[in-house]
Amino acid sequence: QGGGSGSDAPLFKKLPKEIQDAGVIKVGSDAAYRPMEYKQGAEIVGLDPDLAQAMSKKLGVSFQFTNGTFDGLITSMQTGRFDLIMSAMTDTRDRREGLDEKGKKAGKGVDFVDYLTAGSSILVKKGNPDKIETVEQMCGKKVATQRGTTSHEILKKQTKKCRADGKKAISVEAYDTDDEARVRLKAGGVVADVSDFPVAAFAAKSAADFEVVGEQMESAPYGMAVSKDNTELRDALKEALAAIIKDGSYEKALAKWGVE
Ligand code: ARG
Repeated sequence: QGGGSGSDAPLFKKLPKEIQDAGVIKVGSDAAYRPMEYKQGAEIVGLDPDLAQAMSKKLGVSFQFTNGTFDGLITSMQTGRFDLIMSAMTDTRDRREGLDEKGKKAGKGVDFVDYLTAGSSILVKKGNPDKIETVEQMCGKKVATQRGTTSHEILKKQTKKCRADGKKAISVEAYDTDDEARVRLKAGGVVADVSDFPVAAFAAKSAADFEVVGEQMESAPYGMAVSKDNTELRDALKEALAAIIKDGSYEKALAKWGVE
């Protein structure tokens, strides 16, 4: 099964009518998460855009990435700003069911098409000056992370455990982007930045300032998120993903960015 352009593409007819007519799928993403997605000049590049590019050959429409704050992506999609989220977003029950932190219904929820697995990990300064290997060792310390992420949740949960153990809470600094959290780590304002493993590993590989310590936590699938009422798009994406896995372009994109 090859690619194609426009209506000749193998999976074009599976797309919702509006997307066929528009010729484009609008994608929301927080493009400060290298190598998953980041800005290169005016362009958004990375593994997610490359996977989208490969799928676009199967679907016959282009994927147009728009930058947005991670914590607001689902709400923005629900209000119609994009059709899809591709932002290294973990497929969690809370997001599927539209639950807030306390487990209360807060939104409609989304459907996910899972495409990769990753957990959270701990990035510290080279040489690990504070001797941190686990989140348990962060009680009473300052730690940075990106707001609204699964890593943020891990730190909040651990903060409660610190208190329950009679220790000081973690002083969690939540930033709109992980780039900001990493700047804070580099400046020595925090002892660690907790983010997804592919991102922490890439930072450690590309800059001499950092290293990843400990094990990945709470590994789970990344999913492309669509609104629950957009089942046609969801199913077309599932087929497009299967097609790029089958023809090897999925594997190639992962290898290009050093993600396993
Ligand atoms: N996988 C984590 C989550 O879903 C973090 C994703 C952050 N993505 C990004 N593009 N900044 O919560």
